[in-house]
Amino acid sequence: MGYSNQFFEALGLSGEFAQEIKSAAEKTGIPVARLNHYNESNTLPSGEDLRKIEEHYGVSELQLKLKTGRIDREALALIQAHSEDIFNIIAPAKELAQHPNTPVEPVMTSALGKLYQQDCLTFLHSVESDSVDLVFADPPFNLDKLYPSNMDDNIREEEYLSWTEHWLKECIRVLGHGGALFIWNLPLWNSTISTFLHGRLTFKHWISVDIKYSLPIKGRLYPSHYSLLYFVKGEKPNKLIADRLPTQTCPSCFDNLKDYGGYKHKMNPQGISLTDVWTDIPPVRHAKYKKRAGANELPVKLLDRIIEMSTNPGDTVLDPFGGSGTTFVVAELKGRRWMGCEIGPCDDIINRFESIEEDKHNLEGIRSNLNHLYTPLVKKEREARGLWTAESAATKHKAKTDALQIPGGVGPLQ
Ligand SMILES: C[S@@+](CC[C@H](N)C(=O)[O-])C[C@H]1O[C@@H](n2cnc3c(N)ncnc32)[C@H](O)[C@@H]1O
Repeated sequence: MGYSNQFFEALGLSGEFAQEIKSAAEKTGIPVARLNHYNESNTLPSGEDLRKIEEHYGVSELQLKLKTGRIDREALALIQAHSEDIFNIIAPAKELAQHPNTPVEPVMTSALGKLYQQDCLTFLHSVESDSVDLVFADPPFNLDKLYPSNMDDNIREEEYLSWTEHWLKECIRVLGHGGALFIWNLPLWNSTISTFLHGRLTFKHWISVDIKYSLPIKGRLYPSHYSLLYFVKGEKPNKLIADRLPTQTCPSCFDNLKDYGGYKHKMNPQGISLTDVWTDIPPVRHAKYKKRAGANELPVKLLDRIIEMSTNPGDTVLDPFGGSGTTFVVAELKGRRWMGCEIGPCDDIINRFESIEEDKHNLEGIRSNLNHLYTPLVKKEREARGLWTAESAATKHKAKTDALQIPGGVGPLQ
């Protein structure tokens, strides 16, 4: 990981020799560790360090920004003001984009979808513009993980981000107007990805999905959420209707975890509105539920929620990073057309479709608990214990207001 030597090169250093950096540290008075940090993370120095670099290397802040590619709005305004000149300098060097488009046969065809064993860029190039209703992407996170495809998951940051921008551009191209793009990634990468997407699509939400994905390490907070970016193409989404969730109750006594006070009768019997913090998505950890060895498989519940809220039956869902095929299976079970690819072996996806009844059963279980204030099981337990339900609270409230309004009825309580 890390960046190539953009910072050192901006100072005219090769960055290859420890002695060279040591001399730079002596010359500027900036510690070696900090110089290496600027270089490794491609971070612009500020304050005294910036002044020292300007003084000793004759490099201005603007030059540093341009050479390290850390273009802020100030630099951007200058570039825009000189865009004609800059275009004339760089245009001849820019090669025409290559769109390899050799048709390949899908490795699997289902009633509603097609799976290709391909690189995502090659696959995306073959997809028609403006033809997809939802793109869901869960790319590798560049965390040096071993995938069945043996792909390199530890490349330089600028290389990872440049590759990311390439496939994102293609996802945007194939997305239909009003279509939705969801990107699942670490906050580290999604913070940069969202900057790229702003101005190309319309931002809807940064959804935090509460799943612990790493161990607590001294010197940093315990990473506890994945980021799910949600953008749409054009002004507004074709569909944004989210499932409602059951309210939380104690697993042993079934009492509410939240006190609704005098507002019980106002509770929607269909459940609580979905927020942009999702705390009810369980990770797929148990071997029994895993559809392929190793990590990185997303839960059916997550894909069900995304597909349900942003598409209608018959719409088309695309996933360029198939993995174990969660997106494809959920799309199929929900009556959506789908297409996608996976660069590595596709056997796990194909096997998964052969035993799709398991996912169907799981999905039915998940859906049976949605759009009720209390899940059917919790409601039964509460009724048995004389605890309120949406219906009992509404009936009680009606009886009370009726009594207050009917002439001769019971007057206001003391
Ligand atoms: C994080 S996993 C996706 C998991 C998937 N969402 C699931 O629930 O099973 C990322 C997948 O992308 C695949 N992949 C990596 N680079 C790719 C590329 N250039 N084109 C297509 N697939 C790629 C990897 O082999 C891996 O299976």
